[in-house]
This record gives sequence, C-alpha cells and structure tokens, in this order.
Amino acid sequence: MRSKTVVTVSIGISLILLAFSGCGESVPKDEEVAAVTRHIAGDFMDELKTELLTALEDTVAGTVGAIYVCAEKAPEISARYSSLPGITVKRTSKRLRNPNNAPDEYEMKTLEILESRPAFGSQDHYEWEITDGQKKFRFVRAINTSSVCLKCHGNPEKMEDEVKATIAEKYENDQATGFMLEDLRGILTVSLEWPEGKAVFDSISAGL
Ligand code: HEC
Repeated sequence: MRSKTVVTVSIGISLILLAFSGCGESVPKDEEVAAVTRHIAGDFMDELKTELLTALEDTVAGTVGAIYVCAEKAPEISARYSSLPGITVKRTSKRLRNPNNAPDEYEMKTLEILESRPAFGSQDHYEWEITDGQKKFRFVRAINTSSVCLKCHGNPEKMEDEVKATIAEKYENDQATGFMLEDLRGILTVSLEWPEGKAVFDSISAGL
C-alpha cells in the first residue's frame, strides 16, 4: 500500500517536471536576443530615415511637408513593427514633442544611463526585465541629432517660421526644440516578450 502511494506521488512529480521542462524552452543568450532586437531597430531607423530624407528633398512641400513623416509615418511604422507577436517598437525622449511618446520607467532609467555616457561611447543598452512574472527583453538605442533634425528640433530662432507655426499648432506643449548637433534627442526601444516573441526571434536569428 505504501509503495503504491510512493509510485503514484513520484509519477505525479515526474509529470509536473515534464510539463515545466516542456514550456520552459531554453531562453537564448542575451547576445543572441540583442542581435535580433538590434536588427529590428536598424530596419526601423533605416525605413524612417529614408521616408524623412525623401520628404525633405521635396522642394515644393519643403520642411513643413516633411512634418507629416514624423507626425504620421513614424507612429505608423512603429505600429506595423509592434504588430509582430511579442514585439513593441517605440521612440521616446525626456523632452517630448508628442506626449503619447512618453517614456516608461525602464526607458527613463535608460535615458539617464545613456546621457551619462560620453557622446561617442556605446549607444546601445539592453537587459531582461521581469515584471509580474512576464519576461521581456528590452533593447534601447540612442538617437542623436544630425544636422537635418535641427530643422525641426534645433534652435527655434534658426527654424523656418512656417515650420515653427505648424509644429506649435499641432503640439501645444512641444519641448523638443533647442537641441544641438550630436545631442541625445531620445531613444528607440525594442521590446521582445518571452516566449511570445519566440517565433519572430527564430525567424530573424535564422537569417543573421
Ligand atoms: C520635418 C520636421 C522634423 C524633422 C526634420 C525631424 N523631426 Fe523628429 N519629430 C517631428 C515631429 C512632428 C514629431 C512628433 C511625432 C509624433 O507626433 O509622434 C517628432 C518626434 C520625434 C521623436 C519622438 C519623441 C517625441 O518628442 O515625441 C524623436 C525621437 C525624434 N523626433 C527624433 C528626430 C531625429 C533624430 C531627427 C533627425 C534624423 C528628426 N526627429 C527630424 C518633426 C521632425
């Protein structure tokens, strides 16, 4: 009778262990997830920069015409990347133009870390974040200003009047002017939830 109980209990424990080992598929190394999220960040930035530079080259619409790229295209591209299962892509900053882009706690902490680094130091930061049992890989890349950004984020005295007026009309509490060349304008963040983002991780890492 006693041995029967022992057998039943040990079978029960084995089943539980089996169940856990099945769903606890090994989590890839930090460097591997960083490579995948860095790749997503690179694609996002390339796409947005191409859109912005193409719009700025349009001599008729000019800089005012390019405002729509940042105002509409950027959120649209973020939403498309964020529709991948387990993935969220976002641009944020301490000095915001659009309050919808406000940083969360982790992003605020990372903005401070990147601010304290030398301008030409490492521009990436990543780590696993675990909140309420949810495991999430957070990759952050610094976004520094180049001369083209200053048309809409630089010294207001040097910005075109029409650009200033259009921005003021759309964004009442704009804090995103007064940046200088190479300043930390903000960050691009890519989050990959685990295991929800596993399929995306697998398909991108297979091509790297
Ligand atoms: C044609 C004007 C224009 C140019 C040029 C421009 N931006 Fe913006 N930027 C905007 C607008 C408008 C927004 C607000 C977008 C929104 O509503 O989400 C914005 C938002 C941002 C944000 C998101 C955070 C926030 O403040 O809401 C970042 C980061 C950013 N810009 C960085 C850059 C960088 C880096 C460059 C240069 C490569 C650049 N921008 C060039 C107009 C511009």
